[in-house]
Amino acid sequence: MNAGETRPLPASAKCTRCRQRAVIALPSHHANFCEACFGLFFRRAVLRAMKKFPIKAQEPILVAVSGGKDSLAVWSVLHDLGYATKGIHLDLGIPAFSEVSQEAIAAFAHRKGLSWTSYALRDLIGYSIEEIRRKTRRPICSVCGMIKRRLLNRIAVQEGFRLIATGHNLDDEAGRLLGNLVRHRREYIEKHYPYLPSVHPRLPEKIKPLYRVSAEEIRTYCRVEGIEYLEGACPLSRGATSHMFKEALDVLEGRMPGTKRDFLFAYIEARSAPKPVDDFGTCDRCGEPCYGTRCSVCALVERLQKPPRKES
Ligand code: AMP
Ligand code: FES
Ligand code: ZN
Repeated sequence: MNAGETRPLPASAKCTRCRQRAVIALPSHHANFCEACFGLFFRRAVLRAMKKFPIKAQEPILVAVSGGKDSLAVWSVLHDLGYATKGIHLDLGIPAFSEVSQEAIAAFAHRKGLSWTSYALRDLIGYSIEEIRRKTRRPICSVCGMIKRRLLNRIAVQEGFRLIATGHNLDDEAGRLLGNLVRHRREYIEKHYPYLPSVHPRLPEKIKPLYRVSAEEIRTYCRVEGIEYLEGACPLSRGATSHMFKEALDVLEGRMPGTKRDFLFAYIEARSAPKPVDDFGTCDRCGEPCYGTRCSVCALVERLQKPPRKES
């Protein structure tokens, strides 16, 4: 069993909230729940996160969905909490993985009566992630992360949304904070917050409504709610260093339940939401906002279009 995992409970265990039989143990909260009270606990954790973000109450939300547990769970909860939502998927063109990702999204959206659109990366920039991986030496996950961030921003604005939600959870955020602290990446540490303001009229605000719930709690929520998600990480992400920081925190969490939450929340509580900074320029190739005069997507596409250097 992994650290932080919800454990099986004896038949005598009582729900901390309603005193019925408990079936879910949450050691980091020193609580046991029945399924109904767990659902309530989970939705309240998301609502608490939403209240922390300085966003307009009725702002429609574009939910970035990958087909995994996190993004389907965040979409499901936001919808259940009454927010107007639409799903958006970036089809990265990763053989087999991208197709099954979209099948999971389609089945979920159909069941909940939600609308969503898929955009193929190949149509947007002329290359799939698989093609980019073959043509570049940079770690594909960081290139892919940059592409997803930038293109999702663009699509949101084109679709008329001012707010994007992603499924990043407590484990993702705590792992990333640890990685940035270990490497003393000050510029990332300063931006580490579950809400990011819009820094340009053509950039949306961003929120991470699941930052208060762990990966294991999300798995439990999906099981309780009957959400069928795509199991397993992207096949290209194996060996990513971000996994190691999460594993390190899992070890601490196993010995001292609650450590991940303490670590992340203490950091977040000690600061206020980042303020917009106005040092943006415009990409002279695509016209999108960027630092300097060339956005990172256009810079990448230009590199990909250059003919390969001949071996001497
Ligand atoms: P990841 O970086 O893969 O852990 O994903 C973090 C979050 O980014 C997910 O929870 C989704 O909200 C979003 N996301 C990841 N992949 C996609 C995709 N292909 N299309 C749309 N959103 C995505
Ligand atoms: Fe981007 Fe795997 S999802 S490299
Ligand atoms: Zn550009």
